[in-house]
Parts: sequence; C-alpha cells; structure tokens
Amino acid sequence: MPGPVAERGRWSRAPTGTPRLHTMSGIERPRRLRRTPALRRLVAETSLEPRHLVLPMFVVDGLSEPREIGSMPGVFQHSLDSLRKAATEAVAAGVGGLMLFGVPKPEDKDPLGSRATDPEGILNRGLRALAAEVGDATVVMADTCLDEFTDHGHCGVLDGSGAVDNDATVRRYVEMALAQAEAGADLLGTSGMMDGQVGAIRAGLDEAGRTDTAILAYAAKYASAFYGPFREAVASSLEGDRRTYQQDAANRRESIRELELDLEQGADIVMVKPAMSYLDILREVADRSPVPVAAYQISGEYSMITAAAERGWIDRRGAVLESLTGIRRAGADIVLTYWATEAALWLS
Ligand code: PBG
Repeated sequence: MPGPVAERGRWSRAPTGTPRLHTMSGIERPRRLRRTPALRRLVAETSLEPRHLVLPMFVVDGLSEPREIGSMPGVFQHSLDSLRKAATEAVAAGVGGLMLFGVPKPEDKDPLGSRATDPEGILNRGLRALAAEVGDATVVMADTCLDEFTDHGHCGVLDGSGAVDNDATVRRYVEMALAQAEAGADLLGTSGMMDGQVGAIRAGLDEAGRTDTAILAYAAKYASAFYGPFREAVASSLEGDRRTYQQDAANRRESIRELELDLEQGADIVMVKPAMSYLDILREVADRSPVPVAAYQISGEYSMITAAAERGWIDRRGAVLESLTGIRRAGADIVLTYWATEAALWLS
C-alpha cells in the first residue's frame, strides 16, 4: 500500500485478510489502547445502558408482603402493592421494560389454566396495576404461557394420553393474549414453544382490533437445567420436563428454523433463552434477524453468580456486568435480567 505511512513500515495481510501495518521495530502493540480508562472507554465496542435491560417480575395472588425467593437471593415474589413499588424503582433507574409473571393460588390451578384468561386472574390484575402505575414510562410485557396456571404445570393443555396438545394450547394462548392486551400489556412474550403460536396470536389480536399489541417471540427456547430456581419462583406444579416442546441443547440449525417461522408469523422482536450457555445461537440469530433481538439471562444464571459471590469466590458486580456485556456483545439488543434495576443504577 503506497503513501507516507507505508514508508515508515511494511504492509502485509493478516490471516483474516485485514491489511496490517508492521512498524520498523517489528512489534505490534495493541496494549496502547488499553493503557488508561479513558482510552478503554473511547474504543469500547459494546455498550450497556439501562434501556437495554428488562426486569422480570413475579406477582403472587393473595400475598400481603413481598417474599424473597430462596434460590434467588435478592429476587422477590411480589404482592400487588410491592409490585407497583418495585416497578416504580425500576423505571426510575431507567430500565427498558418489565416482564410480568403471575402466580395464582394453588387451589385456583386447573387443567386448562383458567385463571390465565380470567380478567381477575393475578397476572391480568398485575398487568393492569403496572399499566396504571408506570405504563407511560416503560414497556409492560406479559408472559403468554399457561404453565403457572395449570395444575399439571405444563405450558399447555393435555390430550387424552397426557401429552401436550399443540393446537388446543394455541387456542388457549390466543384467549390469554387477548386478556393481556385488554389488561394493558404492550408486548406479549410467547414462551410456550408451541408450533404456530405467534401466527395464531397475531391473527387473534388483529381480529380483535389489537393491531398495536406487539409480540416478543421466544424464537429459540431450550429445555434447560438452569430454569431450576424459576420453578421455585412461580411455585411450579411440573413433574417431569418440557423436552417435547422446548429445544434440545445439542441443536443449532433448529434455532434458525424457529427464527424463520416466528418471523414469517409476525414476530416483532425475537428472543434466545437461556443466554449464557447459548451465546453462539444468539450471535447467529442476531446476524440473521431483521427485527430486534432479546436474550433472557435466566434464573439459574442469576443464582450461580449470586451463590459464588456470596461465598466470596467471585466479585459480584464485576461478574454481573461482564455477563451482561457478553450477552450484548453476542448480539442482544435487549437483555432480560433479574439484575436489571441494580445494574441500571450502577450504569447511570
Ligand atoms: C415458562 C417459562 C420458564 C421461564 C420463563 N418462562 C420456565 C420453563 O420454561 O420451564 C424461565 C425463566 C427463568 O428461569 O428465569 N413459561
């Protein structure tokens, strides 16, 4: 390469094909850009801002005081009152959104998950409370899945043989989506992994005139051991596992297929879940997706870092920020994390 710069050195091509200037001294010094905090900040490629973070929250029917989740120290099951308060704090910290899960009374669970579609069910009441309290200042998101409401704990309704009935479940999701839109949800998180759920919900919303309600499609959701603490958080009734509907950790191509199907069916945002064990999937989805991409740093990821930090084995704040930065670097525009409020306060 000609020019004055080349006279002071020698150009070659890196193995990646990038033209590279060798200085007369023969040694390259990438450390120059790491020398001071100001230099590091100037050249940082990935940013982490409060608006990128979404706080998942749990509201429990009949609870009068917030209750800490044993396997997730620092995360609470909320009453309607404490939900409003925690939501206000999250929004004041600048988080981008709130994702609400509802936990009904045990005696209110049934095979169809009836409370999920009941306007007086706890999730719909919680959504109304959030919409009224902080709805103009943030994005209110709802978990559109039946598992908290069914007595068998599956994400859908069962057929005569005890298997999850895909199409009957999707019909229930459409009813649930309409109730959540009515309650004030801006964005519906379709986490059930039933085939055709996004298209059916989109059509149902549109027919009801809810063309503005958006869909956050869990495009790639893997069956994961790291969901363990969440099962405590929502008092799950599940026995067995979800391997007939959630994806197998061994598969990569399947996520591309799931992504394409959800895009065809009208997904507004797509998500990869869990995050940290699936960063390769996240990168691939982010490279292909024409819509924004979210990733869910799930309960077990929270608990692992929390437990190690409690033992003094890792630095909590450093580990949290590094994990969130890694998820952003892998391609997530949006990160769902139980640290959303706290991390937003650190970042602002
Ligand atoms: C199911 C659902 C799960 C999570 C979010 N939605 C659990 C599961 O699929 O078993 C897990 C979230 C977490 O672990 O933080 N509707």
